[in-house]
Amino acid sequence: MSTEPAPRGIFVVFEGVEGGGKSTQCAILTQRLADAGHEVTQTIEPGGTPTGERVREWVKTGEGLTPTAELFLFNAARAALVETVIAPALDSGHCVVCDRYVYSTVAYQGFARGVDQMTIATLNTVATGGLEPDIVVLLDLPPNEGFGRKAGTALDRIELEDSDFHLRVRQGYLEQAQRDPDRWLVLDATLPESELGDAIWDRVSAVLGRT
Ligand code: TMP
Repeated sequence: MSTEPAPRGIFVVFEGVEGGGKSTQCAILTQRLADAGHEVTQTIEPGGTPTGERVREWVKTGEGLTPTAELFLFNAARAALVETVIAPALDSGHCVVCDRYVYSTVAYQGFARGVDQMTIATLNTVATGGLEPDIVVLLDLPPNEGFGRKAGTALDRIELEDSDFHLRVRQGYLEQAQRDPDRWLVLDATLPESELGDAIWDRVSAVLGRT
């Protein structure tokens, strides 16, 4: 019997403002990876663990949360997710597809809420142990278009922030993408779902071919 460790799977993160179709594209990529014979773990931030589920509920509905308190809550959820789900999955050779990661904290708590970026970077690194994804897919669109797609659904505490807040979030993502163009794939989220799925698959296949 071989004692070689399983090859590490690839780690793909989806980011973007509300209503950009992240969950749809996460599901499409997960299915494509599975169809190609990969073991896949699909997960979400905040969520994916009992801690993450409690944090999800708390940040969406809680009262009196300060920006710094939010920063700690998202990173508490993240630490639990990385330690108990993402890292073990990658170590056992699974590909991991995750809806949001550290880049959301930089965009929402940093760019939009104004929390110090060095503090955010430190906490993000503590929570993840420095684990970085192979690919970050940014589904970019103007926030008002994203909210147009969500018309008729109840909005949560963060979604209810004003349009300037959401514009700063979008800008925060675009600046992060510019700083690390090899890792980020920026796509126009107003393109048809299948076109986006194909562009994502092209990048994922290229990275899989290199691993
Ligand atoms: P969503 O999964 O429905 O997009 O909800 C998650 C919400 O939490 C969304 O408004 C973005 C926000 N968020 C942050 O503000 N910071 C973070 O670090 C993460 C992961 C999410």
